[in-house]
Amino acid sequence: MRAVVLTETGGPEHLVVQDVPEPVAGEGEALLDVRACGINFADVLIRLGQYPQAPELPAILGSEVAGELEGRRVMGFVAGQGGGGYAEKVVVDPRRMLPLPEGASFAEGAAFPMAFLTAWLPLTELLRIGFGSRVLITAAAGAVGTAAVQLVKALNGVPVAAVGSEEKKEHPLLLGAAEAVTYEEAAGLDQVDAVFDLVGGEVFAGSLQLLKPMGRAIAVGYAGGMWADVSPAWLVGRNIGVHGFYLGRLMGRDPELVARAAQDVLRLWQGGAVRPVVGSEHPLEEAGEAHRLIQERKTTGKVVLIP
Ligand SMILES: NC(=O)c1ccc[n+]([C@@H]2O[C@H](COP(=O)([O-])OP(=O)(O)OC[C@H]3O[C@@H](n4cnc5c(N)ncnc54)[C@H](OP(=O)(O)O)[C@@H]3O)[C@@H](O)[C@H]2O)c1
Repeated sequence: MRAVVLTETGGPEHLVVQDVPEPVAGEGEALLDVRACGINFADVLIRLGQYPQAPELPAILGSEVAGELEGRRVMGFVAGQGGGGYAEKVVVDPRRMLPLPEGASFAEGAAFPMAFLTAWLPLTELLRIGFGSRVLITAAAGAVGTAAVQLVKALNGVPVAAVGSEEKKEHPLLLGAAEAVTYEEAAGLDQVDAVFDLVGGEVFAGSLQLLKPMGRAIAVGYAGGMWADVSPAWLVGRNIGVHGFYLGRLMGRDPELVARAAQDVLRLWQGGAVRPVVGSEHPLEEAGEAHRLIQERKTTGKVVLIP
């Protein structure tokens, strides 16, 4: 079968299409015909050699896919933690796959699980967004960001979007954000009840200054730089809280919680309250180019490979 192999860490040129043996499904597993595979920011960090839980190389990246399994249109994560989705076939656990909603494309299916679970679980379990909650979302035009904007709205909260450039503002606004600002403009915002942060570094540090007393922030991503330490003394003095969220670890530690959340977000999609945003679709040969665009912040929504 054809697959994109990451031969060594470094530039996007190390993502090479090769003919490789088909993977073998183990006990309780099945082989999925991949029709679309989502590219995650973590894949870019793995390629750059900057991800803590990176697979041994050479490796086939890609953790979320949509495709056909015994005649059913399904989506979900690949089996195990090792990736393998940038390929024509991949091993999955059929019990963990979700049905693709009627009328949804495979690309939308591959854009759904990671983005919507990464937004839904912290918004509901940790930040506990309720009616009227003003929630600042950073990198709000991206894959997880566009999911978070829609989910805050679905929870009757008020999404406030922060993005890296003027041109990106229109994406969260079209999805229902009440306001959109660049990171530079964010300091001028009215205070917020919660922060959902995908950027880290200085953007995260600045967003904490916008929290109302009793406000909560969640650190989810560090696309823009590692988080500075936050001391409990500083939090106590301001009556605010900071949480952290890592879906990969949670899937291993509490798979039932994640499975229940997956049913919740699927129902929201089926009911029309949310819909994954596909920014662009690429053949396997363009995997390197797609990585480059993500790394250079030139993408919006989810970037998807089509084998
Ligand atoms: N903790 C978890 O379980 C989990 C799960 C999934 C994703 N994540 C993290 O969530 C973040 C968003 O993931 P995603 O897949 O949805 O990616 P994405 O938002 O589609 O792309 C990353 C975005 O980050 C922003 N960014 C800010 N500074 C950047 C920099 N120096 N280099 C590159 N991008 C920068 C850019 O948007 P602007 O130009 O608008 O700033 C960029 O478009 C990533 O940090 C990812 O690792 C975490």
